[in-house]
Amino acid sequence: MKTNSITIRQVVLVFFMLMVQHVSWAQPMMNISSRNVQSLDGMWKFIIDPYNHGDWSYWHDQKFDGTILQDYDFDTSPELRVPGDWNTQRPELYFYEGTLWYRTKFNLQSSMQRKEDSKLFLHFGAANYKTKVWLNGKSVGEHEGGYTPFEFDVTDKVFSDKDNSLVVRVNNVRLADGIPTYSTDWWNYGGLTRSVCLVETSPTYIYDYSVQLSKTDSKIINGWIRLKGNNVSGQKVRLSIPELKINKILESGTDGSVGFLLKAKPILWTPENPKLYTVNLTLNGETISDKIGFRTISVQGDKILLNGKPVFLAGVNIHEETLNDSRRATCAEDDSLLLCAAKEVGCNFVRLAHYPHNEDMVRLADRIGLMVWSEIPLYWGIDWKSKRTYSLAVNQLTEMISRDRNRASVIIWSIANETSVNRERTEFLTNLAGEARKLDNTRLVSAALQNVNKQLAHNVYTVEDPLHEALDIFSFNEYIGWYDNTKYACDSITWVLPENKPIVISEFGAGARIGRHSGKDAYFSEDNMADVYRHQFVMLRKIKGLAGTMPWILKDFRSPHRMLSGIQDDFNRKGVLSDKGEKKQAWQVLKDWNEEHRK
Ligand code: GCU
Repeated sequence: MKTNSITIRQVVLVFFMLMVQHVSWAQPMMNISSRNVQSLDGMWKFIIDPYNHGDWSYWHDQKFDGTILQDYDFDTSPELRVPGDWNTQRPELYFYEGTLWYRTKFNLQSSMQRKEDSKLFLHFGAANYKTKVWLNGKSVGEHEGGYTPFEFDVTDKVFSDKDNSLVVRVNNVRLADGIPTYSTDWWNYGGLTRSVCLVETSPTYIYDYSVQLSKTDSKIINGWIRLKGNNVSGQKVRLSIPELKINKILESGTDGSVGFLLKAKPILWTPENPKLYTVNLTLNGETISDKIGFRTISVQGDKILLNGKPVFLAGVNIHEETLNDSRRATCAEDDSLLLCAAKEVGCNFVRLAHYPHNEDMVRLADRIGLMVWSEIPLYWGIDWKSKRTYSLAVNQLTEMISRDRNRASVIIWSIANETSVNRERTEFLTNLAGEARKLDNTRLVSAALQNVNKQLAHNVYTVEDPLHEALDIFSFNEYIGWYDNTKYACDSITWVLPENKPIVISEFGAGARIGRHSGKDAYFSEDNMADVYRHQFVMLRKIKGLAGTMPWILKDFRSPHRMLSGIQDDFNRKGVLSDKGEKKQAWQVLKDWNEEHRK
């Protein structure tokens, strides 16, 4: 068997890796970008491990004992870019689902002062799907979930005076009781898909905060601040919003938290005028700065109210996949191309499907004025009977809301997409909607329900789903003219829907291969796709209480379900833009609709 020379040190290192396995992760601290960080992004070594040999002996009958290492040597291994999915970086990884080991080495930068009692954390923007982390041969913890941040306290594991070795095991195998689970209509991009960094804090630090406009009075800014660390009680925290002439000293209670309620008359955030204020929080000379917009969002009857005024969500769906080369979006530039394309097609709203996108995406939406629907991937066939799955759902919801609670652009938390109606599912999601409101009672809670071609009479459609009682808006996906009935039927279809709730069409659309003009009624021709949109709009226009529309989808995206050779070629072709960002005929039809309806 070909062997690579290995050092005794590496044998010892791997052996220690396996010594102590424990789960120790806490909800991440707020606003990483404003803290003292050292980026660990760049080229990392990797070893692919399809048989999980890093965990098991060859005979797969005992945990790996660290003795047979001739076949593995990070130093002579190839590299992958972090952040980034592994699928689009190397052809042999395009369809890969399994375990892959990453390693990077780093020295502490001088900026990490390492004052005698400062704390050091390893922060991951996200990694898909299950992650285990070791630093200098010691386990620091593990995380499950592919789209939300997590972090580990590594204060006692970092070497200050020599090379550090960080090893991360990522596995993207789909699980029966995972979230999402076996079947998704998007690519299972695996790996360290978002940035990794070290964060240094003082021994007692600002951990989390909420600074928002009061739900009931737009002349009040209220919220809370939570400290963590060695001495959280009786600490003085300065909260300042210079433009509003707010400069307040607050004192933390015994549990390290403090609430506040301040009189102020901020300019309210809207898509047309996305005003953001600099908010500074200072503790013992360490300042966290954030850019926060102040607005209210609520429902009244069948209206969605932004700052007390009816608003129409003229939107589009977006996957977190780059506009021109279809890989996981990993940075502000990638996000900007996507959100600017949404603005260009006349949107004031985007549904970030079907999972929380990276933090830069929602911060950019704050800045350029797009309202956001943010969602956790409880998608299609979830194991509703599993208690593990439910606690995973609560964790992903908590990590999503904790990260973005101060983003004015985010107006809707969505807890599911197209889930079949049954007792366990409705109980699971009703409970989860309650969890969302406990975490944040300032935003709307929704889910994309599904129309299962339920007709009360010929061309009289409805959506029957008891979950809607737990939701603030009535959102559902329908594909009349593509999966169901004909586009011509749209002209005479009416809908019977709840009267007392805003109605939002969270998905509709059709597919087309760019450049294919095989006839107005031909599947996958651009002409047909544009025509489906026209007929859809005739139907949607008639819906009483229609408060928002978002066609599926901004751009063609990779999907393991879409293998039609010469037309799909593992892409879902429902984008109004091609997978190279080129405009299809339907793009203009959507732009006209959005510009007519955005208020
Ligand atoms: C569903 C689902 C999407 C999917 C789309 C389609 O509504 O929510 O994730 O891509 O239909 O079939 O294209």
